Amino acid sequence: MLKYKRVITMKKNAVILAAGKGTRMNSKYPKVCQLVLDKPMIRSVFDSLEKLNFDRIIPVVGYRADDVMDVLPEGSLFRVQEEQLGTGHAVMQASDILSDEEGLTFVIAGDQPLITSKSIQQLLDFHVSENNDMTLMTAKLDNPYGYGRIIRDGSQILRIVEQKDATPDQLSISEVNISVMLFDNKKLFEFIGSVDTKNKQGEYYLTDMLEIFNQNNLKVGGIAIEDNNEAIGVNDKVVLAQVNKIKKQYINEKHMRNGVTIIDPDNTYIGEDVIIGSDTVIHPGSVIYGKTIIGEECDIKSSYIIDSEIGSQVTIGPFAHLRNQAVIGDRCRIGNFVEVKKSTLDEDVKSAHLTYIGDATVGKNVNFGCGVITVNYDGVNKYKTVIEDNAFIGSNVNLIAPIKIGSNALLAAGSTFNQDVPANALAIARSRQTIKNGYKK
Ligand code: UD1
Ligand code: CA
Repeated sequence: MLKYKRVITMKKNAVILAAGKGTRMNSKYPKVCQLVLDKPMIRSVFDSLEKLNFDRIIPVVGYRADDVMDVLPEGSLFRVQEEQLGTGHAVMQASDILSDEEGLTFVIAGDQPLITSKSIQQLLDFHVSENNDMTLMTAKLDNPYGYGRIIRDGSQILRIVEQKDATPDQLSISEVNISVMLFDNKKLFEFIGSVDTKNKQGEYYLTDMLEIFNQNNLKVGGIAIEDNNEAIGVNDKVVLAQVNKIKKQYINEKHMRNGVTIIDPDNTYIGEDVIIGSDTVIHPGSVIYGKTIIGEECDIKSSYIIDSEIGSQVTIGPFAHLRNQAVIGDRCRIGNFVEVKKSTLDEDVKSAHLTYIGDATVGKNVNFGCGVITVNYDGVNKYKTVIEDNAFIGSNVNLIAPIKIGSNALLAAGSTFNQDVPANALAIARSRQTIKNGYKK
């Protein structure tokens, strides 16, 4: 009980190492900004820490620092490592913020998007219960290539040897460092200055802290991670694809356990923050990303849905596109090649085919014919369309916004409207058909 109390009362800081370019990615963008499904890798790491209420989360950025900060919450704390001289040197950059602090400091690489809050909590609990000064998470991998190997003497961890510095004997060790570490903060910053660059890469290795702590009779320990997939550090795009696949599977399985029917999980892409109600059926080829909420008993067919909110018993698709706060009420039907952007549709709205609804507020039971367009943009500004309950919009109608269509109004097919239509009216805005008999000769 007392031990548990220490976890929550001690200050918890975190440093995310994210200054490197990620040379092996062969990309001009920073490695930690590469997406896994809809999330930049560093954002996954950041979100896992935020869930655990860390007092401070300090990303250390360097290569294209602005790009990295752009994918984190606005106003986030950070430090810049101008030259990437190694993971130990990266941690040193946070010393002006942290060196005088009591408490714990968690250090993690920003290229490990599968790490979960649960594992980080396990590390915290273990570290406190063992009264350690430094605890690292380890994994035994079938293919440890590229990882730092853990050198032990029985149960005692002695040090970490990096791939490039290891002897052939050491390379056969399968237990590795996964760059998920916890330190007593004061001791971390007392000794981080002792790290030198006497290694093959001429870098300040954070991993040298283990040996330094041992030499100073501080208490070091290790805890094995439960799921080796969480250990994966993404260094190239082959591993990036593997991580995408694993994460997709984890997310889809979670939804299926909650009662969502996913016809073909290999071909369904759902972001981490999406919420879906039970008995909703998701057909192959659907991409559902961002802060999206979908209710119960919906039918989603091969559609792209981003940052949107969908009620219950709604049918979407095939091939619909909902984005940027599309809010769709219960029992609506959004059919093929319909795009809804930043619009609110009340209950029972039907838009079965080939329509663009943008910047609109649509009442209950409104019917859109085929090919309706809310003309919301004049090249400079965006304008709003309001359509009240039970209006019937004929096929191939253009609604030039700003415009308001009253309830029960009937809008004739093929019309272009640029003025409001009152409730209960029939409105026609097209030229009469003329026939010129015998014109052909
Ligand atoms: C590191 C570890 C290794 C471990 C492996 C996978 C060291 C010396 N090695 O190797 O033991 O098995 O991760 O977990 O720590 N970074 C900086 N500044 C730098 C250098 C790196 O911020 O000067 C950042 C990178 O942006 C990256 C992270 O640190 O997000 C890890 O760097 P990376 O080059 O991927 O290290 P590994 O070679 O994988
Ligand atoms: Ca790495």
